[in-house]
Amino acid sequence: MANRQLLLDRSGMVLLYIFLGTLRESGAGQIRYLVPEETEKGFFVGNISKDLGLEPRELAERGVRIVSRGKTQLFALNPRSGSLITAGRIDREELCEAVSSCFLNMEILVEDTLKIYGVEVEIMDINDNAPSFQEEEVEIKVSEHTTLGSRFPLPNARDPDVGMNSLQRYQLNPNSYFSLQVRDRTDGAKNPELVLEGSLDRETQATHHLLLTALDGGDPIRQGTVSVRVVVLDVNDHIPKFTQSTYEVSVPENLNSGTRVLTVNATDPDEGINGQVVYSFRNVESKASKIFQLNSLSGDVLIEGSLDFEKYRLYEMEIQAQDGGGLSTTAKMLVTVVDVNDNAPEITITSSTNSVLENSPPGTVIALLNVQDQDSGENGQVSCFIPNNLPFKLEKTYGNYYKLITNRALDREQVQSYDITLTATDQGSPPLSTETLILLNVADDNDNPPTFTDSSYSAYILENNPRGASFFSVTALDQDSKENAQVTYSLAEDTLQGAPLSSYISINSDTGILYALCSFDYEQFHELQLWVTAHDSGNPPLSSNVSLSIFVLDQNDNVPEILYPALPMDGSTGVELASRSAEPGYLVTKVVAVDRDSGQNAWLSYRLLKASEPGLFAVGLHTGEVR
Ligand SMILES: *[C@@H]1O[C@H](CO)[C@@H](O)[C@H](O)[C@H]1NC(C)=O
Ligand SMILES: *[C@@H]1O[C@H](CO)[C@@H](O)[C@H](O)[C@H]1NC(C)=O
Repeated sequence: MANRQLLLDRSGMVLLYIFLGTLRESGAGQIRYLVPEETEKGFFVGNISKDLGLEPRELAERGVRIVSRGKTQLFALNPRSGSLITAGRIDREELCEAVSSCFLNMEILVEDTLKIYGVEVEIMDINDNAPSFQEEEVEIKVSEHTTLGSRFPLPNARDPDVGMNSLQRYQLNPNSYFSLQVRDRTDGAKNPELVLEGSLDRETQATHHLLLTALDGGDPIRQGTVSVRVVVLDVNDHIPKFTQSTYEVSVPENLNSGTRVLTVNATDPDEGINGQVVYSFRNVESKASKIFQLNSLSGDVLIEGSLDFEKYRLYEMEIQAQDGGGLSTTAKMLVTVVDVNDNAPEITITSSTNSVLENSPPGTVIALLNVQDQDSGENGQVSCFIPNNLPFKLEKTYGNYYKLITNRALDREQVQSYDITLTATDQGSPPLSTETLILLNVADDNDNPPTFTDSSYSAYILENNPRGASFFSVTALDQDSKENAQVTYSLAEDTLQGAPLSSYISINSDTGILYALCSFDYEQFHELQLWVTAHDSGNPPLSSNVSLSIFVLDQNDNVPEILYPALPMDGSTGVELASRSAEPGYLVTKVVAVDRDSGQNAWLSYRLLKASEPGLFAVGLHTGEVR
């Protein structure tokens, strides 16, 4: 019945629109009537004669008739009462389907005046259709243990009426397993769904009979039903169950490949294949999949690669246990990697100098360095030190940076270079350490003057020496290095007996060898005092001087000279007088002689060479007294 109406409705609609079109063109005044659908033939629609301004009898006399077009035979004129009546049953749904307002238009011709009147009849809906389902019964299969809240679609009902007369709501017979929920579709239709409210157990109740009722809002309400049979499917009842929901393990990072980390265990009391559990990783990040291997049958988790705490500290994995029936569950697996002190500290010399000037003030920076340890916690806590017998110290700047600085002035003349061993040690157990060597040269500063080997010098030279003879040398040493230690010698300017000293003595500026420029005469002078200066070549140069005493040594180069008695100029012999009565020992005279030399060379002795009367006179050997 419903199907047939639907087909007819299609053509009815088309016709209706044509009618509406013609009316609009004629622009004639409209007569409106309202008639409910589904009335008996001859139902009064409207008093047409009155509305046309005629007596009822005039309808026939003046040839008033409905211009018959298509559907208009639904209506007829009653010439006795002068009214418009229905010509048969009118089905609104057939004419207008789901359109909410259903209008029919016709024209009435008054033949004698050839006047046309438009009449519009609105067909009112009555609740003549009940909601209906296409099927009488539907079957829905639901697995036992389906989770509560799961939804299952139910069939839709249809009601061709409009407005309140059309489908308004659904009802489900009350039961403890299912409830009804209706979803509104965007096109206004309603989709009923079954919602699982109570746990199903096939063993308790294998089928559930439900009744879905669709209701409209007419007066009286009409309804249609469909019975719903819910079949509970038997399933692999038991999901494998892990012994723990989370498996947690801490492993040291240096585990060997192939070591078992833990074993997961899921049990399934089902029999046969439904109870056989297979393990697999689920949603495992690639970093973890390279490291861990899961034995699908034993549940053993092995290390396959190598762990590195410094890269990853925590692996989180999901392990699935699935039985042969396809039921599965998951458990979490957390592997915490524990740091092992496997990284020695690293020392990075950020900048350093290989030479520092002696006498630099304490605090002069030798190197800037950074220490690091990849491990964490105590294993990564690094302290840095140097031997404490060195004139250096380490000062922490910020973070892991250290400054190596001098803690006192250095003296190159004491230590020319240092090998500084830097040691960085972590706090691990056992601790690991790293050493780095810094070689530091101490650069020379001209801080030492040349020093003569003696505090003063005495030199001796025999008189009558050959000119240009070297007779002495002085040496000054300088503890500095290179040009700071290069010594040149010179003599301080002075004069000796009116002549410059440089005319007597010269010094080789490189060797410190002294030369006599003239032949010395002891009798002229026998001692020289001079200053020798030693300079180094530093900038500025340093110097020191030393006194040098030169002693001229006597040579027996002068004959004694008899001063008395003076030899007479006339060639005769000198005369000394002595009395005849002179006793033996009487001092006759004294020979006086001098020698310009000195010492033994001037030590005179006297002898008689010739005497006329030997034995009468004697001369004192040392006194020169003649007696
Ligand atoms: C798994 O756990 C069950 C129950 O605790 C136990 O009976 C079984 O021996 C375990 N299997 C393994 C491999 O540890
Ligand atoms: C050398 O010594 C003298 C005497 O002590 C001193 O007067 C002089 O300045 C010194 N000369 C140098 C260059 O040291």
